[in-house]
Amino acid sequence: MKKIALTMIFAGATLMAADGAALFAKCAGCHGQKGEKAALGKSAHIGGLDAATIVKDLEGYKAGTLNKHGMGGVMKGQVASLSEDDMKALADYISKLK
Ligand code: HEC
Repeated sequence: MKKIALTMIFAGATLMAADGAALFAKCAGCHGQKGEKAALGKSAHIGGLDAATIVKDLEGYKAGTLNKHGMGGVMKGQVASLSEDDMKALADYISKLK
């Protein structure tokens, strides 16, 4: 019984991680596989940032109200189709990148 419960926990964790990882694939081109690059030479290194900060940033870009380095428009296009859940999964994934 214990083994089945553990397997279910791991399966659940893997599913969640896969979601954020899949979504991050299109971000990695600019931000790097580990979020270690300054996207287009402008952004902060996002890997390992606090998840709440990332969600706030993504919401700001989606709303068109955030423009930290003069390139908010680039990010607006990137996050336009993301749902609130997508943003949370992404933020969770990015915050754990090292
Ligand atoms: C075409 C290149 C490109 C792609 C793809 C891209 N970004 Fe960005 N990102 C940028 C640029 C440029 C900025 C700086 C925007 C600004 O001026 O505020 C930025 C800024 C950010 C920031 C804020 C960082 C800071 O400087 O504080 C976060 C968080 C972020 N991006 C997350 C993502 C996520 C998540 C994705 C995938 C859904 C993504 N980005 C896809 C180019 C990109």
